[in-house]
Amino acid sequence: MTMNQMEAAVRIAQLSKELDEHNYRYYVINQPVISDREFDLLLEELIRLEIQFPELLLPDSPSQRVGGTVTREFKTVVHKYPMLSLGNTYSEEELRDFNERIIKLIPDEPVQYICEHKFDGVAIGLTYIKGKFAYAVTRGDGIQGDDVSANVRTIRSVPLQIHAANCPDEFEIRGEIILPHSAFERMNEERADIGESPFANPRNAAAGTLKLQDSAEVARRKLDCYLYALYGKELPFSTHEEALNAASAWGFKVSNDRRICQSIDDVLGYIRHWDQARLHLPFDTDGVVIKVNHFLQQEELGYTAKSPRWAIAYKFKAQSASTLLRSVSYQVGRTGAITPVANLDPVQLAGTTVKRASLHNADQILKLGLHEGDTVWVEKGGEIIPKITGTEPAKRKPDAQAIHFIEVCPECGTRLIRQEGEAQHYCPNSSGCPPQIKGRIEHFTARKAMNIDGLGSETVDLLVDKGLVRDIADLYSLKKSDLLALERFAEKSATNLIQGIEDSRSVPFERVLFAIGIRFVGDTVARKLARHFLSMESLIQADKAALLEAPEVGEKIADSIQAFFADPMRKKLVDRLQEAGLCMAIDPGEAPKRVSDRLAGKVLVITGTFEQHSRDEYKQIIEEHGGKNGSGVTGKTDYLIAGKDCGPSKLDKAAKLGVKVISEVQFLDLVGLATAD
Ligand code: IVH
Repeated sequence: MTMNQMEAAVRIAQLSKELDEHNYRYYVINQPVISDREFDLLLEELIRLEIQFPELLLPDSPSQRVGGTVTREFKTVVHKYPMLSLGNTYSEEELRDFNERIIKLIPDEPVQYICEHKFDGVAIGLTYIKGKFAYAVTRGDGIQGDDVSANVRTIRSVPLQIHAANCPDEFEIRGEIILPHSAFERMNEERADIGESPFANPRNAAAGTLKLQDSAEVARRKLDCYLYALYGKELPFSTHEEALNAASAWGFKVSNDRRICQSIDDVLGYIRHWDQARLHLPFDTDGVVIKVNHFLQQEELGYTAKSPRWAIAYKFKAQSASTLLRSVSYQVGRTGAITPVANLDPVQLAGTTVKRASLHNADQILKLGLHEGDTVWVEKGGEIIPKITGTEPAKRKPDAQAIHFIEVCPECGTRLIRQEGEAQHYCPNSSGCPPQIKGRIEHFTARKAMNIDGLGSETVDLLVDKGLVRDIADLYSLKKSDLLALERFAEKSATNLIQGIEDSRSVPFERVLFAIGIRFVGDTVARKLARHFLSMESLIQADKAALLEAPEVGEKIADSIQAFFADPMRKKLVDRLQEAGLCMAIDPGEAPKRVSDRLAGKVLVITGTFEQHSRDEYKQIIEEHGGKNGSGVTGKTDYLIAGKDCGPSKLDKAAKLGVKVISEVQFLDLVGLATAD
């Protein structure tokens, strides 16, 4: 069906409203009424219309949740209302003192409290103007923070538009951006998979994610946002409770665990309950925030220099237990990274039995001063794996030996290495060490990589142990008869696996690039590399400068790519995969489209920052018009496109070599994209 613009506008508005409603049901109140598939169909229809009628695409469209904006530098914004902190208490006594102070200041009326979770994340202020999300600012120093709007837009539970009629023209709502445990665990697994060090806790992970420059990556990480305070001129509420109820009715995620308490004893009851119950929440909390409910009373109590007198945070003590260290074992990952693990006498902690705790690396063992048979303290936050926080040297036997990190690989006996500046030890025997071989095959066959069904870790173990498969390329010479000879396989399972391997030959290049397992090259980086270099061959040929020109690639990734292909064994492996018929270049349908020949045969170099498009977009535009992207200014360069703040070195070189320097606008003019104004 073709639509005119008016019809499209009506349909876009209707789809946006419906999608907002479904987002709200799914991400805010956890009561979806349609399937993911149905949701995707509505979203696809919206995106199609917005592509067809680009003038109808609005910044608060539900299609904008996937991100895509690249922020080079976060703008500093001064808070309209300073972002204060809260006084902390750690005991019942201190809390009773807080209550006494308040009663003294407001002696003639009853004081009602409202208790909430103290969310353990990153504080954020969201400003809405005329019912639309305007911008989001981090706490910063409390006076001014960073504008992280592009990233916050990707958080599905943050409404981009408020459909309720009764919300004020302008207001700010504050809350906490958190990473739920499930998203945190998944993210750390992915990081370990590509040899990145894991985030220590969900708060650090949320903070790191919020400061990413690529909002599309933020969208994938599944942040969430709970709100707990409204600010604005003449808001029509007399209590904090009313304000939160209104915020909830406008579509914000406000925790339902908030409670009105009539006395400090009620407050203590709430605290006691959540001290335990919080361990079952899907996110981290580190305490309870207690606020005076009535705004008039809040005003009367006022503020100290740093925090309100009408609120306080009660911090929970970390859950800890003491037990005995039985032994330390060492796990070998697919990248060869060695992770020490403490095996403990089983101990009850926060509702579960703990038998193992992560020790991270050699430095951690040294820092703890760990000895054999030590009495150790284990603590558990929201993370699944508890950590050891200390030892009790006084209980140590006099002859107890200090734990020394192993020197050779526990799996293959190879001497371990530890690179300068790295915390982790590695087993360098990548081609002969069984867990590394198996880990690489598992990574290769995983859903996000080659997606080969029927190759779970047990099957991989079996194929490797039986000598049928030694590396990922061997998979492509497996025959059905090989499988049928193994006890585990019957006709059907063998046929399925062979078919799965066969099907993987058509998996797109970007996933092949991820699957081969270059350290630090996760699925996102692989996708960007594939689009930038277009083929394995040009990636292999790229020198360091060319690698650094690619989006997302810094020193660490560039070095890792070069080291990978410099290894003759790995290079050979890639050749064998090519012989097996895997996709080693981007599908021409996905390659940059050719828009004109205006830059045919020209080499252009870009430097500095730009206003109208990102650097990546400029690189794409250059290719679309037949030009080539050069990495540095040389005699072959035709144009240097100089943006703002470009360093002098490229300009000097251009001047010396007589290379023409053009501005952003001149470039856009050159390719016919300059706007009239
Ligand atoms: S109210 C005037 N409520 O804790 C203070 N803060 O230590 C307004 N936090 O910066 C803050 N959960 O980042 C408030 N339910 C909650 C909270 C909460 C977590 C954080 C917030 C604040 C810090 C203060």
